Amino acid sequence: MIWLDYASMSSASSNNGPKRFIRQNIQDMAAYAPGEQINNATKLNTNECPWPASPKVFEAIAAINQDALRQYPSPASDTLRNLAAEHYKCSPEQILVGNGSDDCLTIIYRSICTNQAKVICPWPSYGLYDTLADIQNVEVLHVPYKINLSTDACTWQIDPHIGEVDAALCLIANPNNPSGTLEKRETIKSIVERFSGIVVIDEAYIDFAQEDEQRQGLISLINDYDNVVVLRTFSKSFSLAGARVGLLFSNPTLINEFNKVKDSYNVNVMSQIAAEAALADRSYHKKIVQQTLDSKAWLEKELTAFGWQWPPSEGNFILCHVGENAQNIYQQLKDRDILIRWWNTDELRNYVRITAGTPEENQALVDALKEICT
Ligand SMILES: Cc1ncc(COP(=O)(O)O)c(C=O)c1O
Repeated sequence: MIWLDYASMSSASSNNGPKRFIRQNIQDMAAYAPGEQINNATKLNTNECPWPASPKVFEAIAAINQDALRQYPSPASDTLRNLAAEHYKCSPEQILVGNGSDDCLTIIYRSICTNQAKVICPWPSYGLYDTLADIQNVEVLHVPYKINLSTDACTWQIDPHIGEVDAALCLIANPNNPSGTLEKRETIKSIVERFSGIVVIDEAYIDFAQEDEQRQGLISLINDYDNVVVLRTFSKSFSLAGARVGLLFSNPTLINEFNKVKDSYNVNVMSQIAAEAALADRSYHKKIVQQTLDSKAWLEKELTAFGWQWPPSEGNFILCHVGENAQNIYQQLKDRDILIRWWNTDELRNYVRITAGTPEENQALVDALKEICT
C-alpha cells in the first residue's frame, strides 16, 4: 500500500509554469522552421509545383459522396496502395501510405530510434531529419558534403565513408534538398551494403531528374536489401503539397512493423482520392514535369548573367552560391513580395535556394534581381 503524501505534492507545481509538464529535450530543442507561406506572394521558396494538380483530381474530389466523409477512410489507403504498387512495379505489401513523406519519416524515427540510437546524414540536407532526431532525443551525426566551389563550377558529393559509421538510421535525400544534387545508384548501393542500420533514400524530387533511367529511382533496391526504405511524395511533381500524401517503400516485414506505429487513419479520404486521381493521370504528370524542367532551364540561363555558381540540380530548384550578399538579396526580394529560401547557418549563409516557377514568376524574379544586383 502506498500512502499519498499531500504535503510534498502541493509544492511540485511551482517552477517553470506549464512547460514543466513537457519532456526536457522538447523544451530544449528548436522548432522546425518551414518555408514562409504568405498569401499572394510569388512563392519560389518551398519547392512547390507552380501549376495546379491534374483536372482529374478536382473532378474526383467534387464527386466524393456523403458516406465517404461520414465514415473513416481506408486505414492503409488500399486503393491508392494498389495503384501505387502497379505504377512503381512492386507489391502493395511493400508500401505504406503516409500523411506526406514527413509522416513517413516520423513513423520511421518512432519505430527505430531508442535513446542510444544515432542518426546520420550527409549535410546540409532536409532540416526535418534533425528536428525528428531532437524529438526522439537521439544524437545526429552530420557528414559534410564534399563541396567544390570554383569560379566556373560547383559540385556537391556525398562522402561514401558514411556507410561505415555505426548508426541506426542513415538519411539520404536523393536528389538532395537544398543542393538538388543526385548521387549515382552505385554510390548509394555501396553505402547500403556497408551500413549496419536502415538507409532511408528520400526521393521527394526524383521525378525531376534529367535522365529517364535516373527518374526510375531506387525503389527496386527494396527487393535486394532488407535495410532499405525509399520515400516518394505527391507534394512536388504531382502538385499536391496541400493534400499531404507520401509513400514509403520497403520489405513487407518492415512495413508491418511501421504499420504498428502509424496513426490508424493517417491519410484522410479526400487526400487518398486526390492522390489516386493524380497518379492515374500520367500524361498530365509528364506534362507538368516537363514544364518544370523547361522553367528551370530558363532560370539557369538567365541567372548566369549574375556570375553565381550552383551545383547541377536534378530537382525543381537551384541552390545559388551568391556570396555575402545572400541575406540582402533574400530580404530585398521579400520586400517586393518574392519569396526565395535563405538559411542563417554556417554552411548555407552565402547561398539562396530558388524554386523554378511559372514563366511569369521567373520573369518577375529576374527583373527584381536585376534591380537589386546591378
Ligand atoms: C527532401 C524532402 N523530403 C521530404 C519532404 C517533405 O515532403 P512532404 O510534403 O511529402 O511531407 C521535403 C519537403 O520539402 C523534402 O525537401
